Amino acid sequence: MLNNKVVLVTGASSGIGLAIALMAVREGARLVLSDVHANAGVETAAMIRAQGGEAIFVAADVANAEDVEALVAQTVSHYGRLDVACNNAGVAGAAALVADYPLDAWAHVINTNLNGVFHGMKYQIAAMLKTGGGSIVNVASILGMVGFASASAYTAAKHGVIGLTQTASLEYATDGIRINAVGPGFIHTPLIGHLEGDATLMSNLVAAHPMNRLGQPDEVAELVVWLASDRASFVTGAYYPVDGGYLAR
Ligand code: NAI
Repeated sequence: MLNNKVVLVTGASSGIGLAIALMAVREGARLVLSDVHANAGVETAAMIRAQGGEAIFVAADVANAEDVEALVAQTVSHYGRLDVACNNAGVAGAAALVADYPLDAWAHVINTNLNGVFHGMKYQIAAMLKTGGGSIVNVASILGMVGFASASAYTAAKHGVIGLTQTASLEYATDGIRINAVGPGFIHTPLIGHLEGDATLMSNLVAAHPMNRLGQPDEVAELVVWLASDRASFVTGAYYPVDGGYLAR
Protein backbone atom coordinates (compact mmCIF):
# COMPACT_ATOMS: atom_id res chain seq x y z
CA MET A 1 0.00 0.00 0.00
CA LEU A 2 2.96 2.36 0.60
CA ASN A 3 5.36 1.10 -2.06
CA ASN A 4 8.50 3.30 -2.15
CA LYS A 5 6.80 6.12 -0.26
CA VAL A 6 9.01 8.01 2.17
CA VAL A 7 7.22 7.76 5.51
CA LEU A 8 8.12 9.72 8.65
CA VAL A 9 6.73 8.56 12.02
CA THR A 10 7.24 10.52 15.26
CA GLY A 11 7.12 8.75 18.61
CA ALA A 12 8.31 5.65 16.74
CA SER A 13 10.35 4.10 19.57
CA SER A 14 7.32 2.64 21.36
CA GLY A 15 3.69 1.57 21.28
CA ILE A 16 1.46 2.81 18.45
CA GLY A 17 4.26 4.66 16.60
CA LEU A 18 6.44 1.55 16.55
CA ALA A 19 3.52 -0.51 15.23
CA ILE A 20 2.86 2.08 12.50
CA ALA A 21 6.54 2.13 11.50
CA LEU A 22 6.78 -1.66 11.26
CA MET A 23 3.52 -1.95 9.32
CA ALA A 24 4.57 0.84 6.94
CA VAL A 25 7.80 -1.04 6.16
CA ARG A 26 5.85 -4.26 5.55
CA GLU A 27 3.75 -2.22 3.10
CA GLY A 28 6.86 -1.14 1.17
CA ALA A 29 7.71 2.22 2.75
CA ARG A 30 11.12 3.83 3.04
CA LEU A 31 11.12 4.91 6.65
CA VAL A 32 12.25 7.65 8.98
CA LEU A 33 11.69 6.72 12.60
CA SER A 34 11.90 9.62 15.04
CA ASP A 35 11.59 9.91 18.80
CA VAL A 36 12.95 11.93 21.69
CA HIS A 37 14.26 8.63 23.12
CA ALA A 38 16.78 7.12 20.74
CA ASN A 39 17.58 3.57 21.86
CA ALA A 40 14.57 1.54 20.71
CA GLY A 41 14.22 3.58 17.52
CA VAL A 42 17.88 3.14 16.60
CA GLU A 43 17.58 -0.61 17.18
CA THR A 44 14.38 -0.84 15.15
CA ALA A 45 15.93 1.03 12.21
CA ALA A 46 18.96 -1.30 12.31
CA MET A 47 16.69 -4.37 12.44
CA ILE A 48 14.70 -3.14 9.41
CA ARG A 49 17.91 -2.54 7.44
CA ALA A 50 19.21 -5.99 8.43
CA GLN A 51 16.05 -7.47 6.92
CA GLY A 52 16.62 -5.59 3.65
CA GLY A 53 14.32 -2.63 4.30
CA GLU A 54 15.17 1.07 4.19
CA ALA A 55 15.07 2.92 7.51
CA ILE A 56 16.92 5.65 9.38
CA PHE A 57 16.41 6.99 12.90
CA VAL A 58 16.53 10.73 13.60
CA ALA A 59 16.25 11.98 17.20
CA ALA A 60 13.87 14.92 17.66
CA ASP A 61 11.78 16.44 20.43
CA VAL A 62 8.50 17.41 18.75
CA ALA A 63 7.98 20.16 21.33
CA ASN A 64 11.04 21.89 19.88
CA ALA A 65 10.35 23.52 16.49
CA GLU A 66 14.04 23.57 15.54
CA ASP A 67 14.33 19.81 16.15
CA VAL A 68 11.33 19.18 13.93
CA GLU A 69 12.60 21.47 11.17
CA ALA A 70 15.92 19.56 11.24
CA LEU A 71 14.07 16.21 11.24
CA VAL A 72 12.20 17.09 8.04
CA ALA A 73 15.39 18.53 6.48
CA GLN A 74 17.27 15.28 7.25
CA THR A 75 14.44 13.22 5.77
CA VAL A 76 14.57 15.22 2.53
CA SER A 77 18.35 15.18 2.35
CA HIS A 78 18.43 11.38 2.85
CA TYR A 79 15.53 10.32 0.60
CA GLY A 80 15.01 13.40 -1.59
CA ARG A 81 11.37 13.82 -0.60
CA LEU A 82 8.68 13.29 2.06
CA ASP A 83 5.44 11.53 1.05
CA VAL A 84 3.78 10.56 4.33
CA ALA A 85 4.04 11.88 7.88
CA CYS A 86 2.43 10.47 10.98
CA ASN A 87 2.47 12.87 13.91
CA ASN A 88 2.11 10.33 16.68
CA ALA A 89 4.45 11.37 19.52
CA GLY A 90 2.55 12.09 22.70
CA VAL A 91 2.51 11.94 26.48
CA ALA A 92 -0.28 11.17 28.95
CA GLY A 93 0.48 14.00 31.37
CA ALA A 94 -0.51 14.42 34.99
CA ALA A 95 -3.71 12.98 36.47
CA ALA A 96 -5.27 15.88 38.40
CA LEU A 97 -8.44 17.93 38.54
CA VAL A 98 -8.36 21.29 36.75
CA ALA A 99 -7.97 23.35 39.94
CA ASP A 100 -5.02 21.20 40.98
CA TYR A 101 -3.40 20.70 37.57
CA PRO A 102 0.29 21.74 37.83
CA LEU A 103 1.22 24.55 35.44
CA ASP A 104 4.41 22.85 34.27
CA ALA A 105 2.57 19.58 33.59
CA TRP A 106 -0.04 21.50 31.55
CA ALA A 107 2.68 23.18 29.49
CA HIS A 108 4.49 19.88 28.89
CA VAL A 109 1.37 18.16 27.54
CA ILE A 110 0.33 21.08 25.32
CA ASN A 111 3.90 21.56 24.05
CA THR A 112 4.20 17.89 23.13
CA ASN A 113 0.71 16.77 22.08
CA LEU A 114 -0.56 19.96 20.40
CA ASN A 115 2.43 22.17 19.55
CA GLY A 116 4.29 19.02 18.46
CA VAL A 117 1.66 18.33 15.80
CA PHE A 118 1.75 21.96 14.64
CA HIS A 119 5.55 21.88 14.39
CA GLY A 120 5.32 18.64 12.43
CA MET A 121 2.76 19.86 9.94
CA LYS A 122 4.46 23.25 9.47
CA TYR A 123 7.64 21.68 8.12
CA GLN A 124 6.14 18.52 6.59
CA ILE A 125 3.67 20.49 4.47
CA ALA A 126 6.40 22.84 3.23
CA ALA A 127 8.42 19.79 2.11
CA MET A 128 5.43 18.06 0.50
CA LEU A 129 4.49 21.17 -1.48
CA LYS A 130 7.88 20.98 -3.22
CA THR A 131 7.29 17.44 -4.51
CA GLY A 132 3.64 17.60 -5.49
CA GLY A 133 1.77 16.47 -2.37
CA GLY A 134 1.52 13.84 0.31
CA SER A 135 -0.52 12.51 3.19
CA ILE A 136 -0.41 13.41 6.88
CA VAL A 137 -2.05 11.38 9.65
CA ASN A 138 -2.22 12.93 13.11
CA VAL A 139 -2.77 10.66 16.09
CA ALA A 140 -5.47 12.30 18.22
CA SER A 141 -7.60 10.22 20.63
CA ILE A 142 -11.17 9.49 21.63
CA LEU A 143 -10.32 12.27 24.10
CA GLY A 144 -10.23 14.64 21.12
CA MET A 145 -14.02 14.25 21.01
CA VAL A 146 -15.14 13.87 24.64
CA GLY A 147 -13.86 14.78 28.09
CA PHE A 148 -12.17 12.54 30.66
CA ALA A 149 -11.99 13.60 34.31
CA SER A 150 -8.41 14.25 35.50
CA ALA A 151 -6.99 14.51 31.96
CA SER A 152 -7.71 18.17 31.10
CA ALA A 153 -4.42 18.99 29.36
CA TYR A 154 -4.46 15.77 27.34
CA THR A 155 -8.10 16.27 26.37
CA ALA A 156 -7.58 19.92 25.41
CA ALA A 157 -4.51 19.06 23.32
CA LYS A 158 -6.27 16.23 21.48
CA HIS A 159 -9.34 18.40 20.76
CA GLY A 160 -6.86 20.95 19.39
CA VAL A 161 -5.23 18.34 17.16
CA ILE A 162 -8.57 17.59 15.51
CA GLY A 163 -9.31 21.30 14.85
CA LEU A 164 -5.80 21.81 13.53
CA THR A 165 -6.17 18.77 11.27
CA GLN A 166 -9.44 20.06 9.83
CA THR A 167 -8.09 23.57 9.22
CA ALA A 168 -4.85 22.39 7.61
CA SER A 169 -6.82 19.99 5.39
CA LEU A 170 -8.88 22.91 4.06
CA GLU A 171 -5.78 24.98 3.39
CA TYR A 172 -4.02 22.29 1.30
CA ALA A 173 -6.90 20.29 -0.20
CA THR A 174 -6.11 21.46 -3.73
CA ASP A 175 -2.35 20.98 -3.36
CA GLY A 176 -2.48 17.18 -3.27
CA ILE A 177 -1.94 17.02 0.49
CA ARG A 178 -4.50 15.00 2.45
CA ILE A 179 -4.55 15.54 6.22
CA ASN A 180 -6.54 13.32 8.58
CA ALA A 181 -6.69 12.38 12.26
CA VAL A 182 -7.28 9.07 13.99
CA GLY A 183 -8.78 8.64 17.44
CA PRO A 184 -7.66 5.52 19.28
CA GLY A 185 -9.59 4.26 22.27
CA PHE A 186 -7.47 2.96 25.16
CA ILE A 187 -4.66 0.87 23.63
CA HIS A 188 -2.24 -1.50 25.38
CA THR A 189 1.02 0.51 25.26
CA PRO A 190 3.50 1.87 27.83
CA LEU A 191 1.49 5.15 27.79
CA ILE A 192 -1.20 3.54 29.94
CA GLY A 193 1.19 1.18 31.74
CA HIS A 194 0.83 3.16 34.98
CA LEU A 195 -2.93 2.38 35.00
CA GLU A 196 -2.53 -1.37 34.63
CA GLY A 197 -1.77 -1.94 38.32
CA ASP A 198 -5.22 -0.60 39.30
CA ALA A 199 -7.59 -3.52 38.67
CA THR A 200 -10.78 -1.51 39.31
CA LEU A 201 -9.75 1.31 36.99
CA MET A 202 -8.72 -1.16 34.28
CA SER A 203 -12.01 -3.05 34.46
CA ASN A 204 -13.91 0.27 34.23
CA LEU A 205 -11.83 1.24 31.19
CA VAL A 206 -12.46 -2.11 29.53
CA ALA A 207 -16.18 -1.77 30.20
CA ALA A 208 -16.21 1.70 28.60
CA HIS A 209 -15.36 0.05 25.27
CA PRO A 210 -18.43 -1.80 23.90
CA MET A 211 -16.15 -4.53 22.52
CA ASN A 212 -15.24 -5.13 26.18
CA ARG A 213 -11.49 -4.95 25.69
CA LEU A 214 -8.75 -2.43 25.02
CA GLY A 215 -7.12 -2.18 21.60
CA GLN A 216 -3.73 -3.29 20.29
CA PRO A 217 -1.22 -0.96 18.56
CA ASP A 218 -1.53 -2.89 15.27
CA GLU A 219 -5.27 -2.17 15.16
CA VAL A 220 -4.48 1.56 15.07
CA ALA A 221 -1.63 1.08 12.60
CA GLU A 222 -4.00 -0.61 10.10
CA LEU A 223 -6.12 2.55 9.92
CA VAL A 224 -3.14 4.91 9.81
CA VAL A 225 -1.48 3.00 6.96
CA TRP A 226 -4.69 2.99 4.94
CA LEU A 227 -5.24 6.74 5.47
CA ALA A 228 -1.61 7.37 4.53
CA SER A 229 -1.91 5.38 1.31
CA ASP A 230 -3.31 6.39 -2.08
CA ARG A 231 -6.24 4.05 -1.39
CA ALA A 232 -7.67 6.88 0.73
CA SER A 233 -7.43 9.29 -2.22
CA PHE A 234 -10.75 11.10 -1.51
CA VAL A 235 -10.33 11.27 2.27
CA THR A 236 -9.18 14.51 3.87
CA GLY A 237 -10.08 16.58 6.92
CA ALA A 238 -11.58 13.51 8.57
CA TYR A 239 -11.42 12.13 12.08
CA TYR A 240 -11.63 8.35 12.33
CA PRO A 241 -12.11 6.68 15.70
CA VAL A 242 -10.51 3.27 16.20
CA ASP A 243 -11.95 2.63 19.61
CA GLY A 244 -13.94 -0.60 19.93
CA GLY A 245 -17.12 1.50 19.95
CA TYR A 246 -16.16 3.86 22.83
CA LEU A 247 -17.62 6.95 21.14
CA ALA A 248 -20.76 5.24 19.91
CA ARG A 249 -22.64 5.70 23.19
P1 NAI B 1 3.99 5.33 24.12
O1 NAI B 1 4.36 6.00 25.39
O2 NAI B 1 4.11 3.86 23.99
O3 NAI B 1 4.80 5.99 22.90
C1 NAI B 1 4.91 7.38 22.74
C2 NAI B 1 6.27 7.69 22.13
O4 NAI B 1 6.34 9.11 21.95
C3 NAI B 1 7.43 7.27 23.03
O5 NAI B 1 8.39 6.52 22.30
C4 NAI B 1 8.00 8.59 23.51
O6 NAI B 1 9.41 8.55 23.74
C5 NAI B 1 7.63 9.53 22.36
N1 NAI B 1 7.62 10.91 22.77
C6 NAI B 1 7.09 11.44 23.90
N2 NAI B 1 7.33 12.76 23.95
C7 NAI B 1 8.00 13.07 22.81
C8 NAI B 1 8.52 14.27 22.29
N3 NAI B 1 8.41 15.43 22.94
N4 NAI B 1 9.15 14.22 21.08
C9 NAI B 1 9.28 13.05 20.41
N5 NAI B 1 8.82 11.88 20.87
C10 NAI B 1 8.19 11.90 22.06
O7 NAI B 1 2.50 5.81 23.82
P2 NAI B 1 1.42 5.36 22.73
O8 NAI B 1 0.28 4.84 23.46
O9 NAI B 1 2.05 4.57 21.67
O10 NAI B 1 1.02 6.81 22.19
C11 NAI B 1 1.19 7.23 20.84
C12 NAI B 1 0.14 8.26 20.52
O11 NAI B 1 -1.15 7.66 20.63
C13 NAI B 1 0.14 9.46 21.47
O12 NAI B 1 -0.09 10.64 20.74
C14 NAI B 1 -1.05 9.15 22.38
O13 NAI B 1 -1.60 10.32 22.93
C15 NAI B 1 -1.98 8.48 21.40
N6 NAI B 1 -3.02 7.69 22.02
C16 NAI B 1 -2.70 6.63 22.84
C17 NAI B 1 -3.71 5.92 23.45
C18 NAI B 1 -3.45 4.76 24.38
O14 NAI B 1 -4.38 4.34 25.08
N7 NAI B 1 -2.25 4.20 24.42
C19 NAI B 1 -5.14 6.28 23.24
C20 NAI B 1 -5.34 7.37 22.33
C21 NAI B 1 -4.30 8.05 21.75
